[in-house]
Amino acid sequence: MADLAGKVAFITGAGSGIGQGTAVRLARDGADICIAEIDLDGAEETASMVREFGRSAQIVRCNVASKDQVQEAADACIGELGSLDIAVANAGVGRGGSVLEMELKDWQDQVDINLTGVFLTVQAAAQRMVAAGNGGRIVCISSLAALNTNALMWSYSATKAGVAMMVRGWAADLGPHGININAIGPGVIDTPLAHALAGDDGGPIRTALEASTPLGREGRPSDIAGLISFLVGPDADFMTGSYLLMDGGIRNAAGGRLVEDPESEIGQERARHMQAGMERTARLQPLIDQR
Ligand SMILES: NC(=O)c1ccc[n+]([C@@H]2O[C@H](COP(=O)([O-])OP(=O)(O)OC[C@H]3O[C@@H](n4cnc5c(N)ncnc54)[C@H](O)[C@@H]3O)[C@@H](O)[C@H]2O)c1
Repeated sequence: MADLAGKVAFITGAGSGIGQGTAVRLARDGADICIAEIDLDGAEETASMVREFGRSAQIVRCNVASKDQVQEAADACIGELGSLDIAVANAGVGRGGSVLEMELKDWQDQVDINLTGVFLTVQAAAQRMVAAGNGGRIVCISSLAALNTNALMWSYSATKAGVAMMVRGWAADLGPHGININAIGPGVIDTPLAHALAGDDGGPIRTALEASTPLGREGRPSDIAGLISFLVGPDADFMTGSYLLMDGGIRNAAGGRLVEDPESEIGQERARHMQAGMERTARLQPLIDQR
């Protein structure tokens, strides 16, 4: 367990899934947490979990696609919690579909949140870390989908591959300032986003994915949070610019089989769940549109 006492972590999308698991883990490690979210109900839930560890939790309404909101959120973090030592650029959305049908709006939202949102988060955090002169740690959430894609996930994959590549460049840029930055590529992690896209426990997609995973299960947010805890702690002092895949071994084992034939039964099932996933994010759409 990393000793993060006295550190402040700024985490985007910390109201659910991987971001929530990360907030809880870094609080357990001793950090105070700034939750930068559009979903304030989820943010409240995370804040009470953080406070159970005796740490401070701050909620800032922040759409990562808005430069002004991200800059203001980073200032608010320092204003209330005293510093910004760690940033986790986690907020992301999954929109899928055939290139023949994808709406420009769905493409644009993914680019604005998954790619521009990560850029704006890293920029705001790094600017303040450089100004404070104490270095810092940044982790960006990419995906296994940066390495593998299929007929429905190509746009999501493009944004996640972009994150992995930006991190390589930023490591060179920020290293001289004592800032380490790394990317993580989660495989299938048990979160509301994955449920929406891959269906319920025991459904055909989830069963096929689990059967293709050498470790025999999906990941948990706490698995990814543990890797983030390592990356922001002292044992990762000499690590920057990396892309770390944490996928239970599915890429090695399944490789190209993740690229499903869209006409196959499982390909059709995936298409149905892509649609369900997009309907789920419809709840957040009015908030995403407020920039
Ligand atoms: N779950 C997986 O299998 C998996 C795999 C690989 C990568 N990822 C990535 O991990 C990250 C977290 O995903 P998750 O599975 O925990 O999803 P999730 O939907 O459970 O959580 C995402 C959170 O981000 C917030 N958010 C969305 N748009 C936002 C915006 N514009 N500004 C601020 N907050 C916003 C949502 O309100 C939500 O609380 C994403 O970047 C996702 O692409 C997830």
